[in-house]
Amino acid sequence: MDSPIGVFDSGVGGISTLKVLASMLPHEDFVFFGDSGNAPYGEKRREEVQRLTNDAVQKLLMHHIKGMVIACNTATSAAKPMLLERYPDLTIVGIEPALKEAVDNGAQNILVMATPLTLAMPKFQRQLHLFSGERHIETLPCSGLAGLIECGAQRLDDVKDLLRRLLSTTSGRRFDAVVLGCTHYPFVKDQIAECLPSNPSFYTGYEGLTRHLTHLLGERQLLRSTNACRSIEFLSSSVNPHETDLYRQLFASSIESTTEFGRSG
Ligand code: SIN
Repeated sequence: MDSPIGVFDSGVGGISTLKVLASMLPHEDFVFFGDSGNAPYGEKRREEVQRLTNDAVQKLLMHHIKGMVIACNTATSAAKPMLLERYPDLTIVGIEPALKEAVDNGAQNILVMATPLTLAMPKFQRQLHLFSGERHIETLPCSGLAGLIECGAQRLDDVKDLLRRLLSTTSGRRFDAVVLGCTHYPFVKDQIAECLPSNPSFYTGYEGLTRHLTHLLGERQLLRSTNACRSIEFLSSSVNPHETDLYRQLFASSIESTTEFGRSG
């Protein structure tokens, strides 16, 4: 019960998820692992994402985690079924594009932004099929966006250029909901909003993910009710020795900040 919860992402994106996990589960310890040395995942082959995700679980298991959050939409869609089979005793949840949440909130014109791999996976395609119909749902594969965000604030102008190009293909449609189907994207939510003519609601699915994790850990009686000095540890595969300082800094900053989403140079 006193073991930490492991949180894994291809890089810095998962910090946006960790913030919500940590605030909704204030008595839990966390170990975050960012595979920044191999980021981004979104344009890799499925088998490679599966291998990297399995390596991440192995790494986190060395920290005796009691549960694991895949805070990467691409890794969830490519590798979660494999992980559930391989690690039946470990509680595993994974972030997915929050399309259902947008639909449940009554959205009629929905834009789903995610990596090409996430959007191509059968799981997402099934969801798309299920929720399309009376409403308009458009998908936008954002090649290269997670990689630029991973590079940090020094590439902010490139991020803005890429977003302008990507979002121009939606031809001025007024979306009432935008699903951020990649955990890197919340860091540039303001820049996305600037490119859209309407004022949409943004969906990440983080609260739902945390509720699901809480439910599963509760069922196994693995939730802590107190913790006098909670710890949040940061690990990275990056060769940059300061990478975990960046993770810590991002964790401490506001997610709404437009300038603090990464390295400053
Ligand atoms: C990536 O590593 O390309 C994106 C991570 C994600 O899908 O959340």
